[in-house]
Order: sequence, then structure tokens, then C-alpha cells
Amino acid sequence: MKEMFTAGILTISDKGAVGERQDRSGDVIREILSGMGIHIVNYDIIPDEKELIVEKLVKWADEDALDMLITTGGTGLTPRDVTPEATLAVVDRIVPGFAEAMRVESLKKTPMALLSRAVVGTRGKCLIINLPGSPRAVRECLEVILPVLPHAVETLKGQAGDCGTAET
Ligand code: MTE
Repeated sequence: MKEMFTAGILTISDKGAVGERQDRSGDVIREILSGMGIHIVNYDIIPDEKELIVEKLVKWADEDALDMLITTGGTGLTPRDVTPEATLAVVDRIVPGFAEAMRVESLKKTPMALLSRAVVGTRGKCLIINLPGSPRAVRECLEVILPVLPHAVETLKGQAGDCGTAET
């Protein structure tokens, strides 16, 4: 990667927010992104409350100007799962291929993959990615999008060359 990108990790979990569950998923994201040379600037763990998620995503994208925000949790079907709705409320464009690919590849490992409503989108120059809540799901989903992540962020920041001339 030419430049060190910045990222925020937002864990969304009612139990985690009150200290009843250790945030192993956040740890997995940190380990994987750090291994790619991405600088983790912000981290927080908050309950499954739409307004809190919106507030955090907007602040990290607009004020802190992070290159990417990765959320984990709250993408399923329980009544408390509102991460996709909060994300859709703040993005100006959706990037369907990321979420589609994560679900398709995850489906090869577990039919439960269909239960994640995760979305991916952009807010200004920030890429916002939802991941499911379990550490295993985080690892399985992240590995699908990692090869494209640097180019996606470079493109968003206007730093990428012409994709049409790329050899890969
Ligand atoms: N995706 C992968 N790759 N691996 C998994 O184990 N678990 C699923 C799904 N996506 C899973 C997965 C399950 S069981 C649920 S309920 C949904 O993600 C939503 O999880 P969340 O509500 O914690 O975000």
C-alpha cells in the first residue's frame, strides 16, 4: 500500500457495551487491518441504538476524516439489529458488490450467511463496511474484500490510476 490508510472500528453490541461480552470481533478486525499496514485511529463499542451508530459514523467520517469505518454486529434479524439501517441513513452511495461477495463466499461456509443484512457504502471519501458480529464471521467476510480494499480506498480518495489500464 502506497500510503497508510486510516480506519475506525465500531463494535455494535448491547452486551459488549455494558462489559458483559469481550470484544473479540473488534480484536480480529484490528489484527487483520494492522497486518495490512492500516492505521487504526478510532475504536468504540456501543449498544444497538440507531441514533448512536449514526452519530458515531458521521463523526468518524466527517470530523475525523477516516478512510474507512468497519462495523461489526447488529446486522441480523433480531429486533435490536439496526446497523444496516443506521449505515444506510449516512451513506451517499452504496457499494453492493462488497456485501454481495461477502454473502456469496460466506454461504459456501455456512447457510447462516443469509441472515446478515450487512451493507457497504461511501460517505464522502470514507468507505463504510458492515460485518456480522461473530469473530469467525468477521474473519470470513474480511478475507473476501481485503484484496480490493486498498484500491477501493485509493479510488475513493482520487488517488488511483485508471482501472482500465490495470493489468489485474
Ligand atoms: N457470515 C459468515 N461468514 N460466517 C458466519 O458464521 N454468521 C451468520 C451471519 N453471517 C456468519 C455469517 C449469523 S449466525 C448471523 S445471525 C448473521 O451473520 C448476523 O450476525 P450479527 O447480527 O451478529 O451481525
